[in-house]
Amino acid sequence: MATKESDENSTIVEIKWEATVQCISEDFYTLYGYVPVSILGTGMTGDVMMVAPRDGSNNLKAVKTFIKKTQDGGKNEKRFIKEVSILQSVKHKHILGNTIAFDCPRECVIVMPYFPEGTLKSHLEYMTNQLRDKYLIQLTSAIFYLHSRHVAHMDIKVDNILVSDDGDLVLTDFGLSCMVPSTDMSDVHRCGTENYMAPELKDTTTQFFNLFKCDMYSLGVVLYSMLASAEVDQSDVAIFFCYQSKVSTPDYHEYILKNLLERDPEKRWGSNDLGTYLSSLDHMAKMIKEQGGVRLNFVFLLSYFGDICLPSL
Ligand SMILES: Nc1ncnc2c1ncn2[C@@H]1O[C@H](COP(=O)(O)OP(=O)(O)OP(=O)(O)O)[C@@H](O)[C@H]1O
Ligand SMILES: [Mg+2]
Repeated sequence: MATKESDENSTIVEIKWEATVQCISEDFYTLYGYVPVSILGTGMTGDVMMVAPRDGSNNLKAVKTFIKKTQDGGKNEKRFIKEVSILQSVKHKHILGNTIAFDCPRECVIVMPYFPEGTLKSHLEYMTNQLRDKYLIQLTSAIFYLHSRHVAHMDIKVDNILVSDDGDLVLTDFGLSCMVPSTDMSDVHRCGTENYMAPELKDTTTQFFNLFKCDMYSLGVVLYSMLASAEVDQSDVAIFFCYQSKVSTPDYHEYILKNLLERDPEKRWGSNDLGTYLSSLDHMAKMIKEQGGVRLNFVFLLSYFGDICLPSL
């Protein structure tokens, strides 16, 4: 499912992105002795490749490419700097880490660990309720962490969630992410992937919307897909609200889904509401504890997973 980007020229808040990038005079592959093996995905900026060391060792990497084009005013370079800057500013067990950025003569690249298990999309058909619960906890933790640092992801979907060798989820692709100075923003970041976009993002008459709540709607579509064991679309979401859900699911899943897919962003749950609800359920609290969190306060769980920075009150 393709990602759509808003008009970058309409940004009202000018943010200076800072990223640590290594400038090299050759291309990454030549300098570091890697060869491209296969294309993992193709996005707005170029391919994401699986690459292997030329010496035959097993240190596989994934490389996201931002092709430098002469006539686009350096758009891909700006996208690169923004994505690297956000990636470098976050540190969380369930958010992509260990990335290195290179500025090469013809392209910019982000080198990251390769996830042979691929994305959540290819794992949907093997879902169990226990896995759904574990994944929901991990995603809630990652999203709460981002939101507490004023970062809205803006493209949460099953293709942007990697599965690690240990069977944990890792949120990736910060290509559309933005820093949100306050919860209300004007019409500047109307982007995402159609199927996962909150209703207010598609409604051109809405001028102000809360980008964090948009992420929560997308998380609702991800959760619904996990419950349905297949990627759902907007017609499934509509059906869900007519109480003919595509899935038979425990009551608490249905309750969470209703609160995430709520059309009214004011009433829709934020990541804190979801975390608080999850930790109020005995079996979830147990699972949170098993994963190293503390039962009574979801925030402790988050502090375990990430380098937490609470929003100022
Ligand atoms: N580290 C990785 N390991 C394995 N596969 C990966 C990795 N990173 C990305 N991929 C695969 O490549 C795809 C594209 O990656 P990513 O979403 O970062 O790029 P993108 O250019 O933003 O793509 P899109 O515009 O389609 O969202 C992912 O959906 C996933 O299938
Ligand atoms: Mg993507």
